[in-house]
Amino acid sequence: MKCKFCSREAYIKLHYPKMYLCEEHFKEYFERKVQRTIEKYKLLKKDEKILVAVSGGKDSAVTAYVLNKLGYNIECLHINLGIGEYSKKSEEYAKKQCELIGAPLHIVRIKEILGYGIGEVKTRRPTCSYCGLTKRYIMNKFAYDNGFDAIATGHNLDDEASFLLNNLLYWNTEYIAKGGPLLPAEGKFVKKVKPLYELTEREVVAYALAVGLEYIVEECPYARGATTLDMKAVLNELEEKRPGTKYNFVRGYVKKKKLFESEIRRKELKECKICGMPSSGDICAFCRFWGLKEEIKFKVKVR
Ligand code: AMP
Ligand code: FES
Ligand code: ZN
Ligand code: ZN
Repeated sequence: MKCKFCSREAYIKLHYPKMYLCEEHFKEYFERKVQRTIEKYKLLKKDEKILVAVSGGKDSAVTAYVLNKLGYNIECLHINLGIGEYSKKSEEYAKKQCELIGAPLHIVRIKEILGYGIGEVKTRRPTCSYCGLTKRYIMNKFAYDNGFDAIATGHNLDDEASFLLNNLLYWNTEYIAKGGPLLPAEGKFVKKVKPLYELTEREVVAYALAVGLEYIVEECPYARGATTLDMKAVLNELEEKRPGTKYNFVRGYVKKKKLFESEIRRKELKECKICGMPSSGDICAFCRFWGLKEEIKFKVKVR
């Protein structure tokens, strides 16, 4: 098949909207769609300092690559989780990706600052749960300490659709109320954005391949993945039969999200006595979990 816009051979067939595109026109389509997402949801401005959280995987690598190409002012942060070979490999990929992009990379190694890697802590809390808590805290504190205006993550359309479907099936209405492409800044919480919000996983993989980004394919050994994979499989099956299902599901959600607003339990936030970050109790969940006695400062030299 030929590209819709030129005489070259097609590189990819898009299902929604249905069209064949050559590699060049696909890259153009992809980058334009990211720019449109940023404008549509007012995610970022050109003069903002953006921290891209890069895991070594495809989504965050593509996020950093495209934001840089579109002229946004980015630096990257990789958190080495201290999960053996998996984390070593992830860090290597993150480094390689940032070299290709030409973006500064900051690395925080959990084992170096907290003494243990993820999976090495004796606790009844599920590994993924304290891993998530730790990643979110470090991303935010790093961005806050260094004066970043926003944190960009690699979440794509499939991630959001599967998150929504899962939480709808179990009626976790408070989670549903908190989804979306933009989490505005609030006090010491730095703004969080998802520039790939309207791009599918398949498109992200095709883009990474087209621009030569290499990435870690393995899942984390503790991945709670099973549920997410089930949701993604169901959605992909529906998408086959009814192209546009995922997009319309997520678009509709953004429009109707307000309906769930009253489900958010607003907690009075104080400042953690150890680190000064927002907390519902005297000591925040991060400092409590890791038994910290003093604040960890992440201040580094940024451009
Ligand atoms: P996940 O929750 O693993 O699907 O990751 C969602 C997003 O969080 C990724 O697209 C990245 O932007 C970010 N992220 C995940 N793990 C890391 C990490 N180890 N270091 C930096 N950012 C990460
Ligand atoms: Fe956190 Fe797997 S990435 S437990
Ligand atoms: Zn073309
Ligand atoms: Zn704290």
